[in-house]
Amino acid sequence: MHVDPVGEAVGFPWDDNVVPYRFSSFVLSSHWEANSFPYKLVVLFFAPMDDVDQPKGELVIQTIAMPKDTNPNGDIFGGWLMSQMDLGSGILATKTANARVVTVAMEGMSFLHPVRVGDTVACYARVERIGRTSMTIPVEVWVTRYMTGEQLRVTHGVFTYVAVDHAGKPMPVKHEPA
Ligand SMILES: CC(C)(COP(=O)(O)OP(=O)(O)OC[C@H]1O[C@@H](n2cnc3c(N)ncnc32)[C@H](O)[C@@H]1OP(=O)(O)O)[C@@H](O)C(=O)NCCC(=O)NCCS
Repeated sequence: MHVDPVGEAVGFPWDDNVVPYRFSSFVLSSHWEANSFPYKLVVLFFAPMDDVDQPKGELVIQTIAMPKDTNPNGDIFGGWLMSQMDLGSGILATKTANARVVTVAMEGMSFLHPVRVGDTVACYARVERIGRTSMTIPVEVWVTRYMTGEQLRVTHGVFTYVAVDHAGKPMPVKHEPA
C-alpha cells in the first residue's frame, strides 16, 4: 500500500461557520498483484482550526506607529509599545471594575518582531482573572504592516490592575455601584 499526501486547504466557500476548518487528504493506493484488486482511495480529514493564530480578546486600542516613537535603529521603542498595552488594558480594567484602577504589575513581556513606522498597531486584551481587588489581563499587540497589509502578532504580556478608591487604596472589583 502507498500513502501519498495530496494537500491541505483551509475553509470552504459554502461554509458560514465561525470556526474555520482545515481539510487534509492523502491517497491510498495498491499496486497490481496477481491476487489483489488495484485501488486508489482519497481519504479526507476535516478538523476545526482552533489552533489558528488569531488575536485573542477585544480590540482595546488602535493607532499608527509614528517616526517620533522610534529608537536609533529606526524601529519603534518597546517602551512606547508597552505604554499602548497599558493604556488599552487599563480601559478594559476600568470598564470591568467600574472604578479607578492602577497598574500593579507587568509580566511575561515578549517582543517577537519589530514594529515599523507606518504600521497599524492594535492591542487586544481580555480579563483572565478577577481577584478581590485585582484583575489579570493578558494583552497581545498585532500590527498590520504599512503597504503590504501583512498581519502579525508582535508582542504579548500580562498586566495586573488593582481597583482603587479616591484615596488610592485597594477596593473590591465587584462592588455596589456608587
Ligand atoms: C496597587 C496598590 C494600590 C496595591 O496596594 P497594596 O497595599 O499593596 O495592596 P494589597 O497588598 O492589598 O494588594 C492588592 C491586590 O493587588 C495584588 N498585587 C499586589 N502586588 C502585586 C504584584 N506585584 N503582582 C500581582 N498582583 C499584585 C494583590 O494580590 C491583591 O490582589 P487581590 O485583592 O485580588 O487578592 C499599591 O501598591 C500602589 O499604589 N502601587 C502603585 C501603582 C501605580 O502607581 N501604578 C502606576 C505605575 S507608573
